[in-house]
Amino acid sequence: MTEIKISTDKEYTVTIGNGAASFAGKIISAATGSKMALLLSDTTVAPLYGRAVAQSLRSAGIKVYTFTLPSGEQIKNKAMLFDVIDFMFNRDFCRDDLLVTLGGGTVSDLGGLAASLYMRGIKLFHVPTTLLAMVDASVGGKTAIDLPYGKNMVGTFYQPDGVLIDPQFLVSLPQKQVSCGYAEVIKCACLDSKKMFLSLQSGDYDIADVIEECIKIKQDYIEKDEKDVGSRRLLNLGHTYAHALESYSGYRVSHGFAVAIGIANAYRYATQLGKCESKYYTRVCMLLKKFQLPVCSRISGEALYLEALHDKKRRGNTTALVLPSKIGKCSICNADDKMLREFFMTEDKDERV
Ligand SMILES: NC(=O)c1ccc[n+]([C@@H]2O[C@H](COP(=O)([O-])OP(=O)(O)OC[C@H]3O[C@@H](n4cnc5c(N)ncnc54)[C@H](O)[C@@H]3O)[C@@H](O)[C@H]2O)c1
Ligand SMILES: [Zn+2]
Repeated sequence: MTEIKISTDKEYTVTIGNGAASFAGKIISAATGSKMALLLSDTTVAPLYGRAVAQSLRSAGIKVYTFTLPSGEQIKNKAMLFDVIDFMFNRDFCRDDLLVTLGGGTVSDLGGLAASLYMRGIKLFHVPTTLLAMVDASVGGKTAIDLPYGKNMVGTFYQPDGVLIDPQFLVSLPQKQVSCGYAEVIKCACLDSKKMFLSLQSGDYDIADVIEECIKIKQDYIEKDEKDVGSRRLLNLGHTYAHALESYSGYRVSHGFAVAIGIANAYRYATQLGKCESKYYTRVCMLLKKFQLPVCSRISGEALYLEALHDKKRRGNTTALVLPSKIGKCSICNADDKMLREFFMTEDKDERV
């Protein structure tokens, strides 16, 4: 098993290994010292893995309650958040107790927010079961729910006490969700690793190594800029576009698909600006398509631009856009509203799907 130590305001370990889930109780007990846990999962994941993880926690001397959410982005709402908080209050959870998330990024975002708010913060441990949550959502401490007027509108920075990643969970993950995870993997490659980009192109890689590499890339950003005011914003590559698209579509477009379209859009726009050679745009689109990801949306750029005016990352009339100059190199560009509109209006008629 591989361990990555993350040094933020809280220090914690990310453990990665095939079969690591069978040691969940031992690892979680050692990381938190808690005697009582809420195991938070969703209706797809709980029947697959809930019982084994709960049993492992019990074997480590932890009393376990389970709470099963519906599945999908719609769980990231106010009512669900307070259902989880009320559930803990009604079972006398106190500050030493623990919330364990077992699921994708929606479960870890909602569970992380509940853990950070309840009694001003209890212990939190993530056991991600989607590729997207393994490479991205479970590490870095961002938590959130969505509001009708915008994605991730209410949230906190709250680092977990540990993360356990078992790539074997991925055997049951539907192909579309695997693709969604690769959108964030490709984002990491575009930001910082030409080497990983080439491995993804060739297909010659081990998924556990890719997960480790993505976490190490993210680690570097979050350790330098935990609260997302400086260089961490580079991790937002593809996300200004993605959040507008997700929100506008009423979350019918998944996060991973939206990110893929957003990455392609960033390369397309950087090419139009002359910041990036068109060959990189072509290569990125080819890689996204190789992982069955879309590179264009049917929704009008004007509508998405208007949606992006509500993006929580805006400062006054400025939006920080992440624009690439090649594969493995991006920078932040402060865009006024005219530029932001242009960014959403880029179009490649050949790619429109
Ligand atoms: N906090 C962060 O830093 C961060 C980073 C990236 C994304 N996110 C958030 O993560 C969310 C997307 O996460 P996601 O893509 O994991 O979505 P998700 O949590 O909705 O999971 C996708 C689907 O896969 C199912 N599933 C999960 N694990 C499974 C398994 N092993 N086998 C079979 N089915 C399984 C789930 O039940 C769900 O239906 C978005 O809300 C996004 O905003 C947060
Ligand atoms: Zn993302």
